[in-house]
Amino acid sequence: MCGIVGYIGVNDTKEILLKGLEKLEYRGYDSAGIAVMNANGVHVFKEKGRIADLREIVALDVMANIGIGHTRWATHGVPSRTNSHPHQSSSKRFTLVHNGVIENYDLLKREYLADVTFVSETDTEVIVQMIEKFVYEGLDVLEAFRKTLTLLHGSYALALLDEQNSDTIFVAKNKSPLLVGLGSDFNVVASDAMAMLQVTNEYVELMDKEIVIVKKNEITIQNLDGETVTRTSYIAELDASDIEKGTYPHYMLKEIDEQPAVMRKIIQAYQNEQGELTIAPEIITAMNNADRVYIIAAGTSYHAGLVGKQFIEKMAKIPVEVHISSEFGYNMPLLSEKPLFVFISQSGETADSRAVLVNIKEMGYQSLTITNVPGSTLSREADHTLLLHAGPEIAVASTKAYTAQLAVLAILADVTAKSRNLDPGFDLIHELGLVSNAIEVLCDSKELIEHISREFLAVTRNAFFIGRGIDYYVGLEGALKLKEISYIQAEGFAGGELKHGTIALIEDGTPVIALATQESVNLSIRGNVKEVVARGANPCIISMKGLNMDEDSFVIPEVHELLTPLISVIPLQLIAYYAALHRDCDVDKPRNLAKSVTVE
Ligand code: AGP
Repeated sequence: MCGIVGYIGVNDTKEILLKGLEKLEYRGYDSAGIAVMNANGVHVFKEKGRIADLREIVALDVMANIGIGHTRWATHGVPSRTNSHPHQSSSKRFTLVHNGVIENYDLLKREYLADVTFVSETDTEVIVQMIEKFVYEGLDVLEAFRKTLTLLHGSYALALLDEQNSDTIFVAKNKSPLLVGLGSDFNVVASDAMAMLQVTNEYVELMDKEIVIVKKNEITIQNLDGETVTRTSYIAELDASDIEKGTYPHYMLKEIDEQPAVMRKIIQAYQNEQGELTIAPEIITAMNNADRVYIIAAGTSYHAGLVGKQFIEKMAKIPVEVHISSEFGYNMPLLSEKPLFVFISQSGETADSRAVLVNIKEMGYQSLTITNVPGSTLSREADHTLLLHAGPEIAVASTKAYTAQLAVLAILADVTAKSRNLDPGFDLIHELGLVSNAIEVLCDSKELIEHISREFLAVTRNAFFIGRGIDYYVGLEGALKLKEISYIQAEGFAGGELKHGTIALIEDGTPVIALATQESVNLSIRGNVKEVVARGANPCIISMKGLNMDEDSFVIPEVHELLTPLISVIPLQLIAYYAALHRDCDVDKPRNLAKSVTVE
């Protein structure tokens, strides 16, 4: 979603800001802008479209050592140059970039700014106009900034330039992520450390409702009462090369190929010196104290949760419910007596999930976050965290984070089971090793999968994924992958459910991708395939070795039945990738989507 960068130092800031925004491109955006300040005032450049479009209009001869930048994902007002950030106050003294949503912006407009002429349709412009109004009324800029913040309802990460304070970036945050990066003779601001890794890997985390006065050689953090807060910095453990594509045409393909290595990294990370799987004892105690686990997640992470439920129930024998976070927020089920909430989120920033976390914390319940991003909001705010160790995932379509989520959930189930003297029935370290090898084999079968993708999806406008049991959950993920990057309308269904309505949509040539990796339902899913074939469907059966039949299009290597989602998803990820490629879609940055969904 929206991204923020800022720089104050001794070098010209334009290129640093533009490069920073390029690193945030993966988060999804529809317009971008920068503002730089020098002795001649503030110069704003903004454009609808890509950073490449913005680059074209940035005046190269404007030199400045202080500036802010923004990528916008439209919420209030259409994507346009006018609505893109930075926004300025009427006198142009103040210039602001904002991530988040101000819920009461309309009320504030009517109450405080009735005489102001607004240029854009955004909620952000209200903030910058309020700051100017309070300064006109006699407050200094910091007081005006603080007073404005106390009146805002909603989420914000803000970076503000004041023409009359040319040595300062004023920064604040509430609910939306924002970091301050430290350097020698410069400091930076970023909504994601990745953006500014080009200049520093030392960062200071900000808490909600904090203000930071960022100067070239110092930063001062304050709370909204004006009291100074001290906080130590940390080193962002990110390798700049992890966020490069290398020789790959797309991040998505690189991240699919990284999955065997991620599996091995996870096994290593969760193994103790005796070579046994291990998880922090307090997390296992929390699992054992729970009479029910509530998994809360969105999108792909929700699909991982559905599989995770099978792992935890079958191995550790604890009942699990899986909920879509945006639904759970206002439609909470009757809770058990001792619930444990498990939040699954690649980014650790999903606003819908965070809203649930805030809520259940107020109710006094324990929480665990499973995330790829250490220090992310969901990780900081939950009682416990398990990391995915998948490395940065840049493509909007989640691939390696999904398989990492499954592996970590399996480890959680396994260690919990053993702590309850239950025998999970297999050696998970050994089985995950086999999974890693199987993924490697599948990643080497790209030519065949590309061929399948062409054969089934070249000209279609829709596609169905069917499966039974755990295969059904993988089908849901396959459908999500396909629709989000290729724009083919795709849906996943339980094999037996199709005939209760959806089969009406089957026409001559409709692609139906069926998963057959479970012995107990192998014949029934094949029966469902026959039903759709009788109505003209074009079937693509993906089965597991040992259960395969002549009619199958693709056979995946054999792994433990419970762990098949870790590998049956790989051909589905690749099918989606090639379908998007053949349709000339922007694989890594699909339209309308954001990598990290930080608005509810
Ligand atoms: C996955 O391909 C999607 N882009 C999306 O569904 C994603 O999984 C969802 O927005 C949840 O994100 P999170 O894991 O960062 O919370």
